[in-house]
Amino acid sequence: MSLNPRIDPIERRPAPGILDLRPAVPADLATLRRWDRDPDVRSSLIDSDWHWESELLRQPSWREWLIAEVDGRPIGFIQIIDPEHEETKYWGCMKAGHRAIDIWIGEPEARSHGYGAQMMEKAIGRCFADPSVHTILIDPLASNTRSHRFYERLGFEFVVERTFGEDCCRVYKLTRAGKAAVN
Ligand SMILES: CC(C)(COP(=O)(O)OP(=O)(O)OC[C@H]1O[C@@H](n2cnc3c(N)ncnc32)[C@H](O)[C@@H]1OP(=O)(O)O)[C@@H](O)C(=O)NCCC(=O)NCCS
Repeated sequence: MSLNPRIDPIERRPAPGILDLRPAVPADLATLRRWDRDPDVRSSLIDSDWHWESELLRQPSWREWLIAEVDGRPIGFIQIIDPEHEETKYWGCMKAGHRAIDIWIGEPEARSHGYGAQMMEKAIGRCFADPSVHTILIDPLASNTRSHRFYERLGFEFVVERTFGEDCCRVYKLTRAGKAAVN
């Protein structure tokens, strides 16, 4: 896939295309399955089977599945959940006011162009648009050290190392006040 970056006339370097988030739909099945096979996506995921075929047909109130598109081309996926109401209780017993985000860019050539940061900014905006949300959580694998730098640059603070199933993860948080301080 070529992203055909435009040249920024002032900076004289490739400028990112226009990035949008839209709801994932059943027609995204083949794309999501292809991204599942990408080595960097595979090695970053705790749960390797997202049951796309059946889950793309559901829209539970505690979850948003979003596809990131650059100039209309799908490049990545974002999940936003309310961990208080998520069905498997992945995060344990949670109080109200949290959101948790998972993100990946499935197209390797779309990584490291700033799209991930744009995706997170949009997802963070969606989370905090609800005035009852005070904290966003993420849980990258402890081994995914490049992603830790990515989240820290966005203002996420390390909270604790925690094991989910057999996977050692680093939990990070971004509070509403923390986000305001970054802006
Ligand atoms: C992590 C990810 C969403 C970041 O999006 P991006 O568009 O590549 O990131 P940006 O261009 O905004 O920022 C670049 C930073 O992203 C991170 N990054 C880039 N490629 C990465 C990769 N293959 N794996 C993990 N992190 C990566 C690094 O921190 C990088 O900064 P660095 O070059 O100083 O190391 C994206 O690289 C990705 O999907 N990686 C593979 C899957 C993954 O690790 N998902 C996160 C699970 S917690």
